[in-house]
Amino acid sequence: MSTVYDVIACPVCSGRLFPRGKSLVCDAGHTYDISSSGYVNLLPPGRKNNAVTGDRRDLVRARSRFLETGLYDAVSDVASGLVLHALNGKRPVFADFGCGEGYHTCRIASAVRDKLGAVTGVGIDASKYAAEAGARRAAKNSFSSFSESGGDLGFVAGNFFDPPVRDGSLSCVVSMFAPVAYDACLRALGKGGALVVLFPGPDHLIELREALYPEVKRSERSLDPPKGFRGSEKTEKKYKAPLEDEEVLGDLLGMTPFGCRAPESAKERAFDSGLGDVTVDVSAVLLIRE
Ligand SMILES: C[S@@+](CC[C@H](N)C(=O)[O-])C[C@H]1O[C@@H](n2cnc3c(N)ncnc32)[C@H](O)[C@@H]1O
Repeated sequence: MSTVYDVIACPVCSGRLFPRGKSLVCDAGHTYDISSSGYVNLLPPGRKNNAVTGDRRDLVRARSRFLETGLYDAVSDVASGLVLHALNGKRPVFADFGCGEGYHTCRIASAVRDKLGAVTGVGIDASKYAAEAGARRAAKNSFSSFSESGGDLGFVAGNFFDPPVRDGSLSCVVSMFAPVAYDACLRALGKGGALVVLFPGPDHLIELREALYPEVKRSERSLDPPKGFRGSEKTEKKYKAPLEDEEVLGDLLGMTPFGCRAPESAKERAFDSGLGDVTVDVSAVLLIRE
């Protein structure tokens, strides 16, 4: 059975990583500490921009609180359904590129474990705060991360454009609400492997965007499969999510890029309008590596 050590790779030399005490080490001797929360920082050392690509701690916390309301569970159910479909007959080994605090990653991994009896997953995020939260969440959901004997769901700080994973080691990559690193996915997936992409549809959080901005664009994303992939039908999920109180609205504002960027006066308008229900409009595609 696969473990996280069959997936992750040294970000310096791409060699295999093995557990040694409280660290991971490759054959060349590059060493990475396993943090007390259980995540490992596999961002390439010495790159100045490491600190700025990932989400800030406050944003990670806002998203964690919001997701724990369950209002986006139907969204991760779409992802889980596509991942299960994609893994049919394959090794149940997946990674979540830009996993955030691992809420959806853990739900997908649980769905795979329940249905297929085993799972190996790796959550990768540039934010160490997100990777740390993911590791804590995995432990709460009875997953083991980087232990001496293996690990079924590990969270690492890493760059999904140059992910610390072994070539062809994955059956499936998930990319939810994040830029898609197609070239990296081609490298990490074996032939016939699947890339599951979830992205906002034109009406996603439309009530919130209209409350924040005088003009709102409803743009459709192109679905042409990129080079090296063939595509499938689009799956759409659209429903109303009740924002029960101001705290939930505050967290939603705090976790969305347009909410973070909005001027304070616009945020106040959103609170004053007492939004009520907001539209969740999400599209998903399953791409197969040729
Ligand atoms: C909008 S959030 C989505 C998080 C999660 N997938 C979800 O749907 O809740 C995008 C995530 O991508 C991460 N991210 C951005 N650039 C990245 C990069 N180059 N490598 C890895 N993660 C990155 C951010 O830190 C953030 O957690």
